[in-house]
Amino acid sequence: MRSEAAPQLGGLERFASAGKGRGLRARRRFAVGELLLSCPAYVAVLAVSERGSHCDGCFARKEGLSKCGRCKQAFYCNVECQKEDWPMHKLECASMCTFGQNWHPSETVRLTARILAKQVNCNGFTIEDEELSHLGSAIFPDVALMNHSCCPNVIVTYKGTLAEVRAVREIEPGEEIFSSYIDLLYPTEDRNDRLRDSYFFSCDCRECTTKEKDKEKLEICKLNDPPSAETVKDMIKYARNVIEEFRRAKHYKSPSELLEICELSLDKMGAVFEDSNVYMLHMMYQAMGVCLYVQDWEGALCYGQKIIRPYSKHYPSYSLNVASMWLKLGRLYMALKNRMAGVKALKKAIAIMEVAHGKDHPYISEIKKELEDH
Ligand SMILES: C[S@@+](CC[C@H](N)C(=O)[O-])C[C@H]1O[C@@H](n2cnc3c(N)ncnc32)[C@H](O)[C@@H]1O
Ligand SMILES: [Zn+2]
Ligand SMILES: [Zn+2]
Ligand SMILES: [Zn+2]
Repeated sequence: MRSEAAPQLGGLERFASAGKGRGLRARRRFAVGELLLSCPAYVAVLAVSERGSHCDGCFARKEGLSKCGRCKQAFYCNVECQKEDWPMHKLECASMCTFGQNWHPSETVRLTARILAKQVNCNGFTIEDEELSHLGSAIFPDVALMNHSCCPNVIVTYKGTLAEVRAVREIEPGEEIFSSYIDLLYPTEDRNDRLRDSYFFSCDCRECTTKEKDKEKLEICKLNDPPSAETVKDMIKYARNVIEEFRRAKHYKSPSELLEICELSLDKMGAVFEDSNVYMLHMMYQAMGVCLYVQDWEGALCYGQKIIRPYSKHYPSYSLNVASMWLKLGRLYMALKNRMAGVKALKKAIAIMEVAHGKDHPYISEIKKELEDH
């Protein structure tokens, strides 16, 4: 993490202390009582015995702390402290609900879980195939040195368990290398919620500062009588809830029930949002996934056709999300014997993948073979 790699040492410096490994030494005189160093905790965990009298997030001692609504065993000053602590508390919240008073891991175990979660969240990679299906997770220490930007100049792809990093913009000498840690479809606020939740920072890239794409990502219906700001706000809130509801429902609902969630929400959001709105696209993408799962190729194609144009507008020019959408579309057209549209879509996928994956990637050879075979 950036703050750990370059700690604010002020008048101190790291050095190799003979026979003692690394040490700290003063670079200037310090007066008696002067502050040498202050350092926020990397991870922290409140003792079980102090629950209710101290905030689980900031450790402040206070009366009238408010409870976590789920486990009712973690206590916070306010919503801010609770929000900030959630990435760590969520490691325990569910077990605390399940085991109640019988839940008593040691403090070291709890602290270790937090360290590992933070390491794996921040430095772990998920490996996906060319259609972005999840293949597994891995740690790549060198790749993990890259910081995040929402306008990245490189893309990470995989050849088996080998990670490869390729430029998707001209990079000048001295320029920092940035990849994207997250799905770039969503507007600035959503991206930063995600970055804070999983990586513990807020992004200050050009996209996050100008919020240039937010307006078209949240495109509102052009009606004679446009919806009020309040209506739009409520619909965004509804959209975020439905996304979360669907994420959970995926684990236990049937395909037809899932499709119903998608269609109902698309109907409701459609009264306020354009089809190109990213929340509409999100639900269409989920619906397409369900169609693919039940092998309803026509249904999947129908959603895919609606998604692809706005997708290409919202994502950067070289995007694995856009490439994989062209690829799925191309394969669907081919399966449904629309060769002309199929060839066109597969070629769009190849054009992006030749840059992101490199011209000789096995995925590209496979797609080229599909073009010849049909
Ligand atoms: C995979 S590491 C990147 C390398 C990291 N800077 C380091 O020193 O090890 C991810 C962490 O880097 C930091 N980071 C990455 N991108 C950042 C950004 N755009 N702004 C601030 N911090 C960032 C965050 O602390 C994040 O959790
Ligand atoms: Zn607090
Ligand atoms: Zn809880
Ligand atoms: Zn950003």
